[in-house]
Amino acid sequence: MISKIRAAITGVSGYVPDYILTNEELSQMVDTSDEWITSRTGIKERRILKGKNKGASAMAIEAVKKLLHKTGTDPQEVDMLLCATVTPDYTFPATANIVSAALGLRQVLSYDINAACSGFIFALATAAQFVETGAYKKVVVVGVDKMSSIIDYSDRTTCVIFGDGAGAVLLEPDQEGYGLLDFKLHSDGTGCKYLHKKAGGSAFPVTIRNFLENQHYVYQEGQAVFKFAVVNMAEVCYEVMQRNGLKAEDVHWLVPHQANKRIIDAAAERMGLPEERVMLNIQKYGNTTAGTIPLCLNDYEQALRRGDNLILAAFGGGFTWGALYLKWKYDGHRS
Ligand code: ACO
Repeated sequence: MISKIRAAITGVSGYVPDYILTNEELSQMVDTSDEWITSRTGIKERRILKGKNKGASAMAIEAVKKLLHKTGTDPQEVDMLLCATVTPDYTFPATANIVSAALGLRQVLSYDINAACSGFIFALATAAQFVETGAYKKVVVVGVDKMSSIIDYSDRTTCVIFGDGAGAVLLEPDQEGYGLLDFKLHSDGTGCKYLHKKAGGSAFPVTIRNFLENQHYVYQEGQAVFKFAVVNMAEVCYEVMQRNGLKAEDVHWLVPHQANKRIIDAAAERMGLPEERVMLNIQKYGNTTAGTIPLCLNDYEQALRRGDNLILAAFGGGFTWGALYLKWKYDGHRS
């Protein structure tokens, strides 16, 4: 009997820039404190990409380069590269194209996916379809954001949350029952008013006026977003568990988007998971938007075992949210 082809993750990697922006440094820039940021978000520090004209691609290239090296993948073998980002180098061409060109991926289909903080899981589910149909055999999914390029560092309500970083995974076909088993993804455009970057798109090209009004930066109504996120991320995780017959003890890891520790705790509680089965690195990197989930997988790779059940979950601008259920394919660190 021929079993269904699934898309399994066969390698992970991550890249964060060197510069560490601490809560202490932020509290010299805006009216905030380490105590407020830590207790309200769980964040202690975040990374910032410095250097003239360095865009998100600079981090994505590093993450994908490491991934190809680690997995022994020849750039010529890569069939497809998807890049999840809301901070592309340019409006066009896609950052995925820039990354592919820089790494010598010549036989590749590459494009970007914009689903804000849910970008990585949206891209992973999309990429998996190409693997499951048999169309492609080696697919790279990279999540990257240079949030520092769209954050107003005089706005204490947003600047404490975000950081820069990238993470990448390799997807390959599997017929032994590993890989992506289920997903549930949602979008609700009525969330636009609570979380957006107004200027710089085709509706509001940057003008001197909207520039002076800081409309080229992220606008977020934190509490409204928080309320929606805390309920919906928890519910979608629970729903994916239910429809796959998973009890709390069957889930080895929750891999949550790292936006706010209180949102992560709520999801874990709804799922009945103890904190030692929840991946957490928000304290080191803050919210790197599309980068958070692959950066978590990279940080925890050593602890992962073949056959582990993982729930990946995210919530973000759009609104967008969802959860993926996947069975991990390999033991520990792949080198
Ligand atoms: N330091 C000190 N005080 C602050 C700060 C700060 N950095 N930021 C806000 N405050 C103040 C506010 O001014 C307010 O003061 P007031 O009571 O005198 O008016 C008070 O703290 C409470 O403000 P809230 O906005 O209610 O604080 P909250 O507990 O909601 O935390 C936060 C704010 C961290 C932004 C939270 O709402 C949150 O995490 N929201 C969800 C973020 C998220 O998940 N975004 C989605 C992903 S992002 C994307 O997709 C690109």
